[in-house]
Amino acid sequence: MNELRSAQWYSGDDRNSYIHRAWMRRGLPGSALGGRPQIAIANTASDLTPCNSHLNEVAASVKDGIWAAGGTPLNLPVLSLGETQVRPTAMLWRNLAAMATEEMLRANPIDGVVLLGGCDKTIPSLLMAAASVDLPAVVVPGGPMLTGHFRGAPLGCGTDVWRLSEEVRAGTLPPEAFLESESSMIRSRGHCNTMGTASTMACMAEALGATLPGIAGTPAPDSRLLEQAHETGRLAVELVERDRRPSDVLTRSSFLNAIVALAAIGGSTNAVVHLLAIAGRLGVDLGLDDFDRTGSGVPLLVDLQPSGRHLMDDLHRAGGLLAVLREVRDLLDPDALTVTGRPLVDHLEDARIWDETVIRPRGAPLRPDAGIAVLRGNLAPDGAVIKPAAASPELLRHRGRAVVFDSVEDLHARLDSPDLDVDETCVLVLRGCGPKGYPGMPEVGNMPLPAKVLAKGVRDMVRISDARMSGTAYGTVVLHTAPEAAAGGPLGLVRTGDMIILDVPGRRLDVEVPADELGRRGDAEASKAAYAAPVGGWERLYVDHVQQADRGADLDFLVGSRGHQVSRESH
Ligand code: FES
Ligand code: MG
Repeated sequence: MNELRSAQWYSGDDRNSYIHRAWMRRGLPGSALGGRPQIAIANTASDLTPCNSHLNEVAASVKDGIWAAGGTPLNLPVLSLGETQVRPTAMLWRNLAAMATEEMLRANPIDGVVLLGGCDKTIPSLLMAAASVDLPAVVVPGGPMLTGHFRGAPLGCGTDVWRLSEEVRAGTLPPEAFLESESSMIRSRGHCNTMGTASTMACMAEALGATLPGIAGTPAPDSRLLEQAHETGRLAVELVERDRRPSDVLTRSSFLNAIVALAAIGGSTNAVVHLLAIAGRLGVDLGLDDFDRTGSGVPLLVDLQPSGRHLMDDLHRAGGLLAVLREVRDLLDPDALTVTGRPLVDHLEDARIWDETVIRPRGAPLRPDAGIAVLRGNLAPDGAVIKPAAASPELLRHRGRAVVFDSVEDLHARLDSPDLDVDETCVLVLRGCGPKGYPGMPEVGNMPLPAKVLAKGVRDMVRISDARMSGTAYGTVVLHTAPEAAAGGPLGLVRTGDMIILDVPGRRLDVEVPADELGRRGDAEASKAAYAAPVGGWERLYVDHVQQADRGADLDFLVGSRGHQVSRESH
């Protein structure tokens, strides 16, 4: 083992090393600080991030593992984001959380880090931080909650909220029944149990090689999670001893493996933005088109909500991510390493499918080609994405009249009006919801359908926006349109009545307006008025520096790795 980074704080007998040691002792033996790898546990436990509130218990198991392997564990609470609680959207602070964690890892006497995440933005922000500081790092995903039931049927977090609330609006479910389901939705500790963003990003962390293989999807209350957390603590010490860093593990090959996994599991569109941002921190050359090129030929094997039927507990019971990856092993890069020091494909030998209704064998996929389709055209010069598996097949090629909304508020004010000139053949357009415009790129792209369309029994329409959508949502929804309207994208120039052509097989998204006419149009005044104009604080910094969705919506000055050089003394 090379000299530890932490030795620059603790070794020696001068005044400064005295200060660094003395304040840390508090019951620790002096030997805890000298010569033992100092492992931070970057912990997103928070009562206001309910999906992560159990992580202190997980941290205790990680700590035991670190002690057992000869390291010293150090709990490091970091900025945590609770998807359901914070307004206007948790995404506004993903980069702040990443920046704060990166800075605290670099500033402290730390040799390596265990990253405890769960709820949507937490694993992405932790991986971005670890990538930028490039100290040995390993993720423990907090795990999904157990399946709740209502009136005998399983409830999928998020997905069934969207479904049941539309049933209420359509008049097919009494409001009392909807409220009654509320107490059944969240059965246990853990994050959303659908293949939403949290479950997706846990699988992405594992497919990238950043976790103990086999851990992703272990339910939060499952005792095996604590066992794996203990094992991860041990592994973190080994990572320091071997000097195995994120830059060794998170290579372009790993990202391509993650894209294969994303398609096979039918994962969230949000993974596109997060993976691009993490890759940007490492200087890995990954672009939006890699998702289509690598992912769209991959079969969809996992039958989970929101695209399918089952929930995360079922996926775990059926064999988990490794069983899925074993089926698509030939599509994985055999050289991509994991934190174990062995390639990902080496960990697939013993994986088996135990329930083929949840994980389909390669020969009988749910869809032969899944993944995320990347669209371009005069409406999305820098790209837009759609998840065909969550869309209605008959709408994947569609020409329809635009009905434009300038903001979420405008949408809610007019959507159910009997005067709104709309039918199911129209294309709903929502703008001002990109990274800069909102700000923070909220999950509003899966717009509700107009009441008069719902009343006809219609449950899907083509919807286009510069927003994201919840990983638990579904529909023929085009997202992440870049550039966004507030950054001068053509989405800001569309008018109600324009004809829009969506052609997913042809990968096109166009508005039937001649280029010269589009060029003469300015952004609608109502639209410009709705774009965010923060006067100060984080929002100002964010709007001034955030990049577009096709670059991962990171801040321009946070892209790249800044390493872990030890700074000057504080005294
Ligand atoms: Fe936390 Fe869904 S709200 S994972
Ligand atoms: Mg979400």
